[in-house]
Amino acid sequence: MANTLALTNRDLDLRHVWHGNVQHQGLDQHPPLEVDRADDVWVWDVEGRRYLDAMAGLWCVNVGYGRREIVDAVSAQMMRLPYYPLTQSHGPAAQLAASLTSLLPHELSRVFFVNSGSEAVETALKIARQYARRAHPGQNRYKIIARHRAYHGFTMGALSATGQVLRKQAFEPLVPGFLHVAPPDHYRCDFCSRESCCTLVCADEFDRVIRMEGPESVAAVILEPVIGGGGVLPAPDGYLERVREICNQYGVLLIFDEVITGFGRTGKLFGFEHAGVRPDILTVAKGLTSGYLPLAATVTTDQVFETFNSDTDETARFAQVSTFGGHPCSCAAGLANLGILTRERLWENSARVGAYLIDRLRGLQAKSIGEVRGLGLLVGLEMTADVSRTPMPEAQVVRIQKAVREAGVLIGRNNDTVPGLCNVLTLAPPLTLASEGADTIVAAIEKALA
Ligand SMILES: Cc1ncc(COP(=O)(O)O)c(C=O)c1O
Repeated sequence: MANTLALTNRDLDLRHVWHGNVQHQGLDQHPPLEVDRADDVWVWDVEGRRYLDAMAGLWCVNVGYGRREIVDAVSAQMMRLPYYPLTQSHGPAAQLAASLTSLLPHELSRVFFVNSGSEAVETALKIARQYARRAHPGQNRYKIIARHRAYHGFTMGALSATGQVLRKQAFEPLVPGFLHVAPPDHYRCDFCSRESCCTLVCADEFDRVIRMEGPESVAAVILEPVIGGGGVLPAPDGYLERVREICNQYGVLLIFDEVITGFGRTGKLFGFEHAGVRPDILTVAKGLTSGYLPLAATVTTDQVFETFNSDTDETARFAQVSTFGGHPCSCAAGLANLGILTRERLWENSARVGAYLIDRLRGLQAKSIGEVRGLGLLVGLEMTADVSRTPMPEAQVVRIQKAVREAGVLIGRNNDTVPGLCNVLTLAPPLTLASEGADTIVAAIEKALA
């Protein structure tokens, strides 16, 4: 104990903390940033150095840091009722469920609270499988179709839906029944990169796979309206509409994973609003509380929910309990957070400053930036080795990311996704970012590339 007191937090971290996705060998030479405090879009390390956090933590601090309103709401909730499980009920969960669904199309009316995006996806997959068996008696609908390059979480089901072999291979075999189709990626598309725009053959792949597998074996399609961690790949015009049409045709549920794209990130409240189509099941997390406390949710339509209601069949209920899911303090944080988001209409700032940021990045005309793409304040830079679109080697992408940090801005990258395509730098700053903040990001990237 006495020994421990003499050690710095960095020493204790290096001794005891197991960081995700990090090679610890040599970490003492290149320790992670020790972040101490934060305000709005800025974070400070323990040495007092200030950085613009252009990843909003991990794509999540949508309303920015230092919002006293959220802190006060959580503190009051802690005093009143610090914990109660949702095997019973409490005000914060009821109110947040009402507030969340008031932002959604009316049929998305039922909320199951959990703690993380992975759990929200896990819950969606389980609801989809049980729903499919109840809605289609006599069939065995269990297959889930997802996309290569997509990320859906670290738990075994969500990881099975994930289309990133480098994240999965150490843990295989995963859950049976998951299939993957090509993502929309016009820049590198096997079907249509020579055409002037996406031909939607990638959307039609869902149709082909459902027919080949037999529709009576398929429960659901899951997708992110914009693939985030896989390299920021927005759905092209008409894509989500086509997938919705295919799902309707075969009685397959459509799950939108909006863990990143929800709550204004893409310049609309939810990513699916860009297409005007609606999911049967929606997963949300990150921006639900802007990361102030852990909370996530799986939202379903009345129609899906009603399938689990029965006077006569005891097995009809959804048999899942979460100790901390819907924690009253997290729900209080979520309520205050949604209050700020809607009062300040932060999705509008996301659209405006996001368009400005993308424009300025496109103006950089650096030979190593093959493509700048994104929606709202969710932006990816496809880094290339040369003009032939050869992906930049990962080590070089890492060097650029570090140089941007040296220039005072924290950005992300799509590491451990699919072989050869870990070459995308990512930006997802708080939605409060002003155009001056966008200029700061662009200047740091320009400096790093130089
Ligand atoms: C689209 C998507 N789904 C699910 C998850 C998993 O969320 P969590 O890390 O909260 O478990 C993530 C995480 O980044 C994500 O981007």
